[in-house]
Amino acid sequence: MSALINALSTRELAEIDDEISHAPYRSAVAIDALKIVQAHRGWVSDESIKALATYLEMSAAELDSIATFYNLIYRRPVGDKVILFCDSVSCWIRGCAKLEQHIGDRLGIKRGETTADNRYTLLPVPCLGACDKAPVMMVGDDLHENLTADSIDAILADDSTSRGEHD
Ligand code: FES
Repeated sequence: MSALINALSTRELAEIDDEISHAPYRSAVAIDALKIVQAHRGWVSDESIKALATYLEMSAAELDSIATFYNLIYRRPVGDKVILFCDSVSCWIRGCAKLEQHIGDRLGIKRGETTADNRYTLLPVPCLGACDKAPVMMVGDDLHENLTADSIDAILADDSTSRGEHD
């Protein structure tokens, strides 16, 4: 058991312990613990699922099903930034399919893929709760609304500039 838990860093364990201290039982912090691991590692591996499940006193299958259900937990490696592109009904009516194609052409990837330079992963996501501003997407933590091909170009150009073109 301790060998499994060693797969988690001291910092991750401290942050998870903090969540546990406010919870009625250990497994109640499952989603927060998954988010903590993802914040440190970028995604949640099978090894991390097993270690976390042991630490939270729940089965790995149970934790895996929570992680799979919660679509902001990534169970495969992703790029530095994830582009979450809403393809639910309001965004679809307002042309998200064409815009997704535009992003894909621009970055050279399809949904589910990561750019060769590991900068972006493009993932579809159910409604982001901003239907009145459709079509919308998130780039990292930033929500972008009323998207057009031009605004997407500007968002990606700004993002490249803010990260430095020569990094
Ligand atoms: S359908 Fe896209 S934000 Fe709701």
